[in-house]
Amino acid sequence: ARITLRQLLDHAAEQGYGVPAFNINNMEQGLAIMEAAKACDAPVIIQASRGARSYAGDIMLSKMIDALAEMYPDNPVCMHQDHGNNEATCMTAIRHGFTSVMMDGSLEADMKTPASYEYNVAITERVARMAHWVGASVEGELGVLGSLETGEAEAEDGSGAEGKLSHSQLLTDPDQAVDFVLRTKVDALAIACGTSHGAYKFSRKPDGDILAMKVIEEIHRKLPNTHLVMHGSSSVPQELQDIINEFGGEMPQTFGVPVEEIVRGIRHGVRKVNIDTDCRMAMTGQFRKMAVSKPAEFDPRKFLKPAMDAMRDLCRERFEAFGTAGQA
Ligand code: G3H
Ligand code: 13P
Ligand code: NA
Ligand code: ZN
Repeated sequence: ARITLRQLLDHAAEQGYGVPAFNINNMEQGLAIMEAAKACDAPVIIQASRGARSYAGDIMLSKMIDALAEMYPDNPVCMHQDHGNNEATCMTAIRHGFTSVMMDGSLEADMKTPASYEYNVAITERVARMAHWVGASVEGELGVLGSLETGEAEAEDGSGAEGKLSHSQLLTDPDQAVDFVLRTKVDALAIACGTSHGAYKFSRKPDGDILAMKVIEEIHRKLPNTHLVMHGSSSVPQELQDIINEFGGEMPQTFGVPVEEIVRGIRHGVRKVNIDTDCRMAMTGQFRKMAVSKPAEFDPRKFLKPAMDAMRDLCRERFEAFGTAGQA
């Protein structure tokens, strides 16, 4: 059955668990997520980026979600637009059956000027009003995904720095978060706490200087009834880096967000945890392993099945660690 983000996160808050939001681009990722959810009785958030929508096509994605909901009737599914950039992206998502949208007005607001903040409030409030008319949920974002080590903000396309910003310019301001939620009426708020998208988050295991979990605790104190969202929450496990590199990959050593830090966030109001990179790495490790160890193989299923199984196992670990398991 379909469920909205609001319904799912209200339950998560009542019961004190978090829900991983995994990105989907193709059938194999959808099956991996649902197999994991079925195995541990978890509700799911499946999210599609604008890139995913143009890769698979809106009709394909939408029918795929219908198929998954029919194949796994016991696992409630929230279908969410990841990083919507404007009203059109959000409304067309809802038209294709998404039950939730992210209106990321912070993409334009990264320099934290008063004008860009007002732009974020206005567009997010507009999308929330429209989405709520038709029963869909809305996630907004305040703050800049970027590195507290280098002060480098992420460009909208994730390609690199937009400039050097200080800690306080990157992190979500708790008082501004209160104003933002009040004015926009979002169902969930994505915050910035020093994480960034992709595999290269930290050059060492993060401590409190570069992963500012304290910000989450402070926002939760001021907004105890707002569901918080952590983007850039892949853990970039060493084992997955090692498999990729053992079979011809060239990923420089890197560190992600430790699962225990996310679990700490869940104790302080984090309800949605966005994970894409870990799933990509789990799949790609198996593609590489097959390509190198079975060079005569040319049936794509022989690559895709182990990849799917590796992503399923990763998803299940997150469901279990975040307390989502058993909550379907
Ligand atoms: O927010 C970023 C997600 O990992 C989606 O990435 O835009 O390459 O599909 P994408
Ligand atoms: P990762 O790149 O850490 O998996 O983050 C994904 C994300 O935040 C999608 O919105
Ligand atoms: Na942002
Ligand atoms: Zn994100």
